[in-house]
Amino acid sequence: PPPKEATIDGKTYRIDEWHNVPPNIASSISRRLHVQKDHPISITRSIIESKFPSPTYRYHNHLYPVVSTAQNFDSLCFPADHPGRSKTDTYYIDSSTVLRTHTSAHQADTFRANLSDGFLISADVYRRDAIDRSHYPVFHQMEGARVWDRAKVPSGDIAAAVRADLARLPTHNMTVEDPNPTTHPERNPQQDSLSVEETEAVAAHLKRSLELVVAEIFSRAKEAAMATDPDFKDEQLRVRWIEAYFPFTSPSWELEILWQGDWLEVLGCGVVRQDVLNRADVPSQVGWAFGMGLERIAMLLFEIPDIRLFWSTDERFLGQFKGLSEDLGGLKRFIPFSKYPACYKDVAFWIGSSSAAGGGTKANTHDFHENDIMEIVRGVGGDVVEDVAKTDEFTHPKTGRRSLCYRINYRSLERTLTNEEANGYHEQVRRALVEKLGVELR
Ligand code: PHE
Repeated sequence: PPPKEATIDGKTYRIDEWHNVPPNIASSISRRLHVQKDHPISITRSIIESKFPSPTYRYHNHLYPVVSTAQNFDSLCFPADHPGRSKTDTYYIDSSTVLRTHTSAHQADTFRANLSDGFLISADVYRRDAIDRSHYPVFHQMEGARVWDRAKVPSGDIAAAVRADLARLPTHNMTVEDPNPTTHPERNPQQDSLSVEETEAVAAHLKRSLELVVAEIFSRAKEAAMATDPDFKDEQLRVRWIEAYFPFTSPSWELEILWQGDWLEVLGCGVVRQDVLNRADVPSQVGWAFGMGLERIAMLLFEIPDIRLFWSTDERFLGQFKGLSEDLGGLKRFIPFSKYPACYKDVAFWIGSSSAAGGGTKANTHDFHENDIMEIVRGVGGDVVEDVAKTDEFTHPKTGRRSLCYRINYRSLERTLTNEEANGYHEQVRRALVEKLGVELR
C-alpha cells in the first residue's frame, strides 16, 4: 500500500491520493532564497521594501509555504471549479493542503490580524509549470496591500483619506501608458461597496505606489548598465497598465514593462474585493493589493539570463552579489560565466490505447498533462535541464493513436556536460515516462 505520510522540510504530513509533491520540490523549501543575505532575490526584495516604508507597511518574510486550500483559494473567492485548483497546476500535500501557489494565500490572515495599515509578504511559491529559462516550479513573490478603515478616517471619508496619503507619495518622471478608464461595467467592474470617488482614489494610490517601485528598479538597472557597459543605449522606458481579472480584486490590472522588445508582465493588482475583507472580519476596511514576481524583476535588474541561476550555490554566481545588501547603491550587473554547450535530445512516444505498452498499471491511459512531463524531466535531470518543448504531434491515420515528440535541452550552468552524461539522463527520462505515464516509446 502507498505511504500515508510524507516528510516535508522535517515535518510529517498525512497524505492521500491527492499528494503530488516530488522530493526535489519538497527539498527546495529549506532554501529560503528571499532571506539569504546577498542573494539577488533577497536584494531585490529589500529594494522594493524600501519603497513601502515602515511602520505604515509591515514586512512578513517568514510565512510557511504549506497552507490550506481555504487559505490559498477559498479566502480569496476562487470558485470551486477554478483551474488553479487542479492537480495539474498545484502541488497538493493532501486534498485540503497545498504548497501555496501565490503569496495571496496569506492575505486574509494578514488582514484579519490587522497589525498595520499596510503589509508586504515575500515568500517562495510553488506551481507546476513548463520548463524554460524563465519558468521554474518554485519562485518568489511579494504581496503588498494597503487598507483604510471607514471607522477610523476623519468623518468616514475614505476618498479624502486616500487622496491625502497619495499627496504625500513622491512623484516620478517615468512615462506610463494607462489607456483604459479606471472601471468598465463588463471588463473591470466597480464594486457596489465603494463609491466611484473611492475607487478612483484607491486605484490612483495603488498605481502611483507601484510605479514608484518600477521607477526605482529601472533607475538602478540603468545605473548599473551604464557603469559596466560603455555601449549601453539609454532607451526610453515604457510601462503600461492593462486590465486584468483576479477572483479577489475588482477592478484589477497588470503592469507590463517593455524590455528588449517584449512586454513583460511584472505584477497583478487591484482593489480588494469587499468579500475578502468581510470574510477576514475587517468589513469596515477598504484598500488595494498587488502580487509581484521577484525573479522577473531580479533578472531584469541584474541581467540574469536563466532562472535556474538563482538556485546555484556556485561561488562564481553568488560571489558577484557579496556586500550588496549593505550597499544597495553599489549594484552591479551580473557578469555571466561562460555558457557551457547545450546538448539536446528528442523523445517520441505514443499515447492512448495500445496493446504494446507492456500491460503496466498505467498502460492505455493518456490522462496526463504536459506539466507531468515537465516534472518527470525535472525530477530526473534537475537543474541540468534548461528547456523542454513539444516539437511534434500527430494522429496516426489508421490506428487513431496520437504521437508526441519533445525536445529536451540539457545544459549545466556550471560545467560542460559530456554526451554520455546527457544520454544517461535521457535514458532515465525515457524509462520514467513509460513507468509513470504508461506511454509507448517510438
Ligand atoms: N496572486 C496573484 C498572482 O499570483 C497576483 C495578485 C495579488 C493579484 C494581489 C491581485 C492582487 O497572479
